[in-house]
Amino acid sequence: MAQIVLPRILRIGGGVFAQANDVLGTLGLKKPLIVTDPFLRKQGLADRLVETLGGNIRVFSETVPDPTVAAVLAGLEFLKRDVHDCVIGLGGGSAIDTAKAIAVLAVHGGKMRDYKAPHDQSAPGLPIVAIPTTAGTGSESTRFTIVTDDETGEKMLCIGLAYLPIAALVDFELTLTKPMRLTADTGIDSLTHAIEAYVSRRANPFSDMLALTAMRTIRKNIETACSHPQDRAAREAMMLAATQAGLAFSNSSVALVHGMSRPIGARFHVPHGLSNAVLLPAVTEFSVGSAVRRYADCARTMEIVPTETDDEAATETLVSDLRALNRKLQVPTPKEYGIDRRAWMESIPVMVEQAIASGSPANNPRVPTASEIAALYETVF
Ligand SMILES: [Fe+2]
Repeated sequence: MAQIVLPRILRIGGGVFAQANDVLGTLGLKKPLIVTDPFLRKQGLADRLVETLGGNIRVFSETVPDPTVAAVLAGLEFLKRDVHDCVIGLGGGSAIDTAKAIAVLAVHGGKMRDYKAPHDQSAPGLPIVAIPTTAGTGSESTRFTIVTDDETGEKMLCIGLAYLPIAALVDFELTLTKPMRLTADTGIDSLTHAIEAYVSRRANPFSDMLALTAMRTIRKNIETACSHPQDRAAREAMMLAATQAGLAFSNSSVALVHGMSRPIGARFHVPHGLSNAVLLPAVTEFSVGSAVRRYADCARTMEIVPTETDDEAATETLVSDLRALNRKLQVPTPKEYGIDRRAWMESIPVMVEQAIASGSPANNPRVPTASEIAALYETVF
């Protein structure tokens, strides 16, 4: 059995940003609150959206990277000063995730912590429209949001239909100005979504199709998108694949990489895609033996081995290719990133605890013990 949930409208292509008004009209939505970050506000993108929507639209532009409960509550308070019938998340995963949390709290109240997984929020909040500016977290097409608890520093995964955008405008032209590091990090995040969705214990034929298509496209285009940021074909391919990978893991799951990645981000403020990149080769190497066929499919689909390659050889190449990709995209180790060895080692027990509590490691083809997770954290340092 698989239950598939999807946004009602995905409008995809260069220039669809300018069609926001039309999409809202189709859905009968009249009074949006735009939720974005200070940088996109300053850059003028939020104002362009306001203009597109006919002016006189309120903008909350105080979202923060790795959204915190405090930032969500500030947005909620801002929203409540007027009457809104929907929320538009404009930006990377952080802005969209903040918009999602505001949309749910606006209708259901309570504390953000109440919504932490395994709680499943299916009763709808305000409708969410997502306009991603990176390729990407896939948040525009998922039924998840991640909010960091300011007090404990924990990245709380929140799941449920209420977080699934009713519509997304997927416009690759918004990514053309993004710098190399951001392109690489968000691209590897998407690749991780696709691979984890495909090897997950919750994979199904519907998510498989999206995951395979996405991973092939990302592996073929990520290096070009990084080295030639103005390459429209590569940017367009990456943007669509990021949304497809989001759809894939939203309808399957992520697994051990994401489970271990969130605590790193929460504790050491490493960008999400970067902490995934750091973990992906080691976690893949750890896991391949429990799903040889599936990982081999990944290698063949990404065309990093000839199609006739046997499963064992294909999985070996997969691990070495992921390592090589990290080198090409200049992914630093935690140490190279400037994290203190002692702080890292001392944090491992808490990171292990949070990784397991998120539930993601249980979806991994090889379900790790706590000490195996600890050993992986040590290895990647
Ligand atoms: Fe992710």
